[in-house]
Amino acid sequence: MGNPAFNLHAFRTAQRAAPLSNFGRELFAGLSRPARSIPPKFFYDVAGSALFDRICELPEYYPTRTELRILTECASEIAAQIGPKAEIIEFGAGSLTKVRLLLDALDAPKRYVPIDISGAHLEAAAERLRDDYPRLAVQPLVADYTMPLVLPARGEGMGQRVGFFPGSTLGNFSPDEALAFLQLAQRLLRGGGLLLGVDLVKDPALLHAAYNDAQGVTAAFNLNLLRRANAELDTDFDLDGFTHAAFYNAPLRRIEMHLVSRRAQTVTLDGQRFSFDEGETIHTENSHKFTVDGLRALAVKAGFRPAAVWTDPERLFSVHWLQSPAAQ
Ligand code: AVJ
Repeated sequence: MGNPAFNLHAFRTAQRAAPLSNFGRELFAGLSRPARSIPPKFFYDVAGSALFDRICELPEYYPTRTELRILTECASEIAAQIGPKAEIIEFGAGSLTKVRLLLDALDAPKRYVPIDISGAHLEAAAERLRDDYPRLAVQPLVADYTMPLVLPARGEGMGQRVGFFPGSTLGNFSPDEALAFLQLAQRLLRGGGLLLGVDLVKDPALLHAAYNDAQGVTAAFNLNLLRRANAELDTDFDLDGFTHAAFYNAPLRRIEMHLVSRRAQTVTLDGQRFSFDEGETIHTENSHKFTVDGLRALAVKAGFRPAAVWTDPERLFSVHWLQSPAAQ
């Protein structure tokens, strides 16, 4: 209060800008590179998650409903591969509907461990699941699943340890990152396996439509990154100054999403000015598409033994059962 040293300290800290959050630091780094980018994991704030839920309902966006259809129609075959008393480890926790389909089909599943970097989402989801599955031990884990992690010790009389990674989230990774993730998962799941959903290569027109919907929901989802930056980081992105662009990069077998600057402009983040030329882009997402054989070859490289694969009649999407051999 009357302490001059204390006041001096308060004055100094007020002069300094607040330290950047994780989003702020990664945005700063992404804007500082010659090929600008923002990691897609930052799409999913509250508004972005709501927009993604709307994307999943769009007539053009086939992946979610197709995967749900595969999980529903092939549930008993999937359950037969997994066997009784399984322990389910889900990478990411955004898909409670999907894991419910799996849990409903399984014979007496013992434990469910959803892993997510956001603890808030995780606890709410876990609570809802505990109500509906009183005999299931729901043990959420706040962690980054792209890093080595330690799972709770296996309980008495547990069946297979099964990883669950639906939604083609694997497609967000570069090929190297996808291999690294699969290697990590393979080690974690020894003696069990990974149930993995990935989107398939198809007519580019269908892919294009899925990321350029008529209602503009995907555009709003993409632009939400800039709205989020303005709200959380005090940036001054002009939301009308950028436009959504998504296209299929056929040689690299991926949809790319970008935010394109519609004119020359500058944006300030943490006291640093970033200039954009007209037409300059910020790369916000890659969504890789796979062939069934390509995915199985990648899984083999990571140490898995690919077993069953399920697809829809139009072969839009695929769900893979990849066994992880027990260590000798
Ligand atoms: C959640 C990463 C699978 O790549 O299709 C949807 C995200 N981006 N529309 C995808 C997304 C634009 C989605 N994944």
